[in-house]
Amino acid sequence: MTPPLRLGVNIDHVATVRNARGGDLPDPVRAARIAEAAGADGITAHLREDRRHISDADIEALMDALTLPLNFEMAATDEMQAIALRHKPHAVCIVPERRDERTTEGGLEVAREENRLAHFIAPLAEAGCRVSIFIAADPRQIEAAARIGAAVVELHTGAYCDAFAEGRMDDHAEELAKLTEMAVLADELGLEVHAGHGLTYDTVPPIAALPQVVELNIGHFLIGEAIFKGLEPAIKEMRTVMDGARA
Ligand code: PXP
Repeated sequence: MTPPLRLGVNIDHVATVRNARGGDLPDPVRAARIAEAAGADGITAHLREDRRHISDADIEALMDALTLPLNFEMAATDEMQAIALRHKPHAVCIVPERRDERTTEGGLEVAREENRLAHFIAPLAEAGCRVSIFIAADPRQIEAAARIGAAVVELHTGAYCDAFAEGRMDDHAEELAKLTEMAVLADELGLEVHAGHGLTYDTVPPIAALPQVVELNIGHFLIGEAIFKGLEPAIKEMRTVMDGARA
């Protein structure tokens, strides 16, 4: 039987809107509470090195206030490792980070940094955090993620979503085929499989239908939809679309 599909709601861009003005509003913790009421299974937040959206105080407030598990996205730096070890969130997701990028553009280069990453994630796993690695749909990266002892890989759906948005349907189909194949490979290697980045109501169904994928992390589109219909209905609709495709 296909396992249930969890939805992690990424609230980074509630903080982006807040930071556009300074001050406290809108409050990411309030967004997290609404996400929970709407049927989210977890909250995801990325503390970037430049603190452009989520702040250290947000992470503290989320850890205090949340009843849902927090998935803490972070770069593989000593600073972020120390913060994660202090808070011990339910999960950490290691992502690549470049200061000049608008968003997390690609997956982590695990294969070239196997030794460093193995040492980097070991204390996080020992502290009880579920360690996930955000990677492109590339067999080299998946095999390396398994070798370094990660529990989870999150497959980057950005290229698949971009191809759809730009009407490049052949590329879109090719990216979906890669994600499908890589979900199977990761599962065979004993990794839990997640997916995310750029997903919308239009692009989520084929990903939600992949039986190996057990969690999706979705943020930017939901916060955008919330402007028009409110956060709770936006998330509820995503749940309905995901669940429909899963069934
Ligand atoms: N998963 C990971 C690892 C991410 O870095 C992001 C973006 O922060 C997401 C999922 C969510 O992407 P989006 O905001 O485009 O839905």
